[in-house]
Amino acid sequence: VTVDTIEAPSVDWGSSAQIGILDTPCYVFDPKLVLAQYSALKSALGTRLTVSLKANPNLDLFVRCSHAFVDGVELASIGELNTVVGRITHPKIVNTPAMSPNLMAAAIASRATLVFDSLQQVEMFSSLETRTPKLPAILRLSAAELTENPGGIGPGDHFGMDRCDALEAIRRLIRVGLRVRGLHVFAGSNTFATWSPLIVESMTRFLPSVEAALGSPLELVNLGGGFPDDWRSLTKQFAQYRYDLEPLTRRTQVYHEAGRAIFGPAGCFVTKILALKSVNGRPVAVCDGGLAQCFLLAQTESVIKRRIRPHVFRVNESTPPPLSKRLQVVGSTCSRADIIGELDPGTVVAPDDRLIFEGCGAYATYSPLSFLSLAPPNHYLIS
Ligand SMILES: Cc1ncc(COP(=O)(O)O)c(C=O)c1O
Repeated sequence: VTVDTIEAPSVDWGSSAQIGILDTPCYVFDPKLVLAQYSALKSALGTRLTVSLKANPNLDLFVRCSHAFVDGVELASIGELNTVVGRITHPKIVNTPAMSPNLMAAAIASRATLVFDSLQQVEMFSSLETRTPKLPAILRLSAAELTENPGGIGPGDHFGMDRCDALEAIRRLIRVGLRVRGLHVFAGSNTFATWSPLIVESMTRFLPSVEAALGSPLELVNLGGGFPDDWRSLTKQFAQYRYDLEPLTRRTQVYHEAGRAIFGPAGCFVTKILALKSVNGRPVAVCDGGLAQCFLLAQTESVIKRRIRPHVFRVNESTPPPLSKRLQVVGSTCSRADIIGELDPGTVVAPDDRLIFEGCGAYATYSPLSFLSLAPPNHYLIS
C-alpha cells in the first residue's frame, strides 16, 4: 500500500444543513472520519498504530471509535485514564514525564502498560506497595540522545531517558520482577519528515544492547511518528520510510502513535459572526468564538502566520455586496492576538452567518478556556 493509493475521506462541512442549527461556538467531530483516518494511516505505515488520546479526549467520540483502536490508546493523565477505563479491552498505555504515584497506582490497578520516562519513575514503581510483577513496561528514550543529537534538527526536548539510563532501568526493573516489553521514542509533533529516518536507524543500532541487558528479544518498539495533519502529501517520504523500516520489522513488532493525523481532519470549529465593521479601512468580522475556544487558530506561536480561510455558511438571508477587500476574522476576547482567519475579496457575508474552520478535530482542548468567563465551546458529533 502506498500513500497515494489510499483514498482521502471527503467531507463537506460547509454544505451540511445541520451546521446552521448548532449552538456556536462549537466543534463538530465526525466519527466516520476518525475511523477512516486511523485505518488509512495504519495501512500507509504497515505497522501497528496507537492513538494519542490527548489529541481528542471527547468521550462521545471515543465511545464511537474505540473499537477500532486495537493497538492501544496512549494516555497522559488520570483524567484521560478515567475516560477509557472500563470502556476498552485494547491496551491502555500511560506515558508522561509527570507521573505521580497516584497516576502510577491507578495505571497499575487498571492494568495499563507503564511507559517509564526516567530512572526516578523506576524508583517510584519500586517503592509502590501495589506493584504487580506481571505488568508490562516500556521505556521512553530521548529522541535527541538516541539519535546522538545531530546538528541541524533541533536541540531535542526533555522527554525520555538516555540510553545508559535505559539499560540501568532494565537491570533495576528486572530486580523488582518487571518485564520490559519495549522501547518508545517520540521526537515531537510534525517531525516525521525530519526525524523518522534517523530514529529507525538509531533504534535498530541500539536494539542489541537492550536485548543483551534483557537477556531476551525485545517484544516491541514504538517509534512515535510526529505525523502532520497532511501526512497524505508526503508520498515519497512514506515510501522511503517503509523501505527503511523493513530490517527493524523483521526483528521486532513496530508500533507508531498518532494524534493530530487521526483527529485533525475529522473535526471543524464553527463560530457565528456577531458584527461586521471597518477599522481604519480594514474590514473586520467579530465572532462569538475565537482564541478562547480554538486557541490554535490564533497561531500565537507561529512566526509566519498563514491565516486560515473559513467556509461561509449563509444564515442571514440578505445579499450584501461582496467584500471589496480582505476581511479579518476575529474572536470574542480582548486580546489583540485573537485573529483566527481571513476572508478573501469577493466573499458574500453578513452578521449571523456561520464560519466553518476545517482541520480543527485535534487539540480542541488546548485553549485558555476560562478567559473572560466566556462560555466554553459546545461539542457535536455528526456522521
Ligand atoms: C508521547 C507523545 N506521543 C504522541 C503525541 C501526539 O502527537 P501528534 O498529535 O502530533 O501526533 C504526543 C503529543 O504531545 C506525545 O507527547
